[in-house]
Amino acid sequence: MVTGRLWRRLKLFGYKDYETYFNYISSPAGIQECGVMLDLLTTNETYFFREPAHFHFLRDEIIPQQGHHKIRVWCAAAATGEEPQSIAMVLADTLGKCDWDILATDISGKALERARTGVYRAERIDQIPADYLKKYCRRGIDEYEGMLAVAPSLRSRITFEQHNLLHPREPVEQFDVIFLRNVLVYFDNATKQHVIENVLQSLRPGGWLILGHCESVQGLNLNINLVKPSIYRKPLVGVSAFKRAASH
Ligand SMILES: C[S@@+](CC[C@H](N)C(=O)[O-])C[C@H]1O[C@@H](n2cnc3c(N)ncnc32)[C@H](O)[C@@H]1O
Repeated sequence: MVTGRLWRRLKLFGYKDYETYFNYISSPAGIQECGVMLDLLTTNETYFFREPAHFHFLRDEIIPQQGHHKIRVWCAAAATGEEPQSIAMVLADTLGKCDWDILATDISGKALERARTGVYRAERIDQIPADYLKKYCRRGIDEYEGMLAVAPSLRSRITFEQHNLLHPREPVEQFDVIFLRNVLVYFDNATKQHVIENVLQSLRPGGWLILGHCESVQGLNLNINLVKPSIYRKPLVGVSAFKRAASH
């Protein structure tokens, strides 16, 4: 897969092997090419309301338990933005006047560029519930015929940011919910452990971690409780409380 996606770049630069290309993208001069490589290597497949059970869980379980407090969601592999825009529709519809915001991150700059526009081809909207379509989406006319735009009132609550999940996000903020869906499948167990530990630093005690249905955390050593398949909760009593008890 890697060679299939990158050989054209080698040809363009006139490099004979991948090691030379790797050395180039690792050097300060190759920083821009490194971004191009990441865009080529990542698979940004996504769609609105993918795995709808998670959006029902957000609406029916998480939001009611949050009370009137502001809700903060981190969508940690947001690709071209359909996932954070779907989350935004649920929050806007369910929360009324309560405050909320979403951080949407991805490693691919190109995917994020598309996500920021909030404009999608109309054939990609099948899964959006009809009332959300009516309330939160605008159909394009003239040169935008066949396109759909998510309402600016939702888009303005989403911050898009480039972030590599192999590193903890800084500054460490505390989110109530983290969506980490359909990205762990690309990692081996050691990397999955590392990535989940990184994102858990940004999840408040009692917060929810939502993974893709096909993703397994079997064999990992994580401080999270299974709520239902693919949905986890960070314990309210964390390691720090045990440390306090031990030091008494
Ligand atoms: C298949 S898409 C999943 C999109 C969305 N979460 C969903 O479930 O529809 C996987 C995304 O993970 C991103 N990704 C892959 N490795 C990453 C990393 N190390 N850090 C951040 N994002 C990464 C890719 O750029 C891609 O957009």
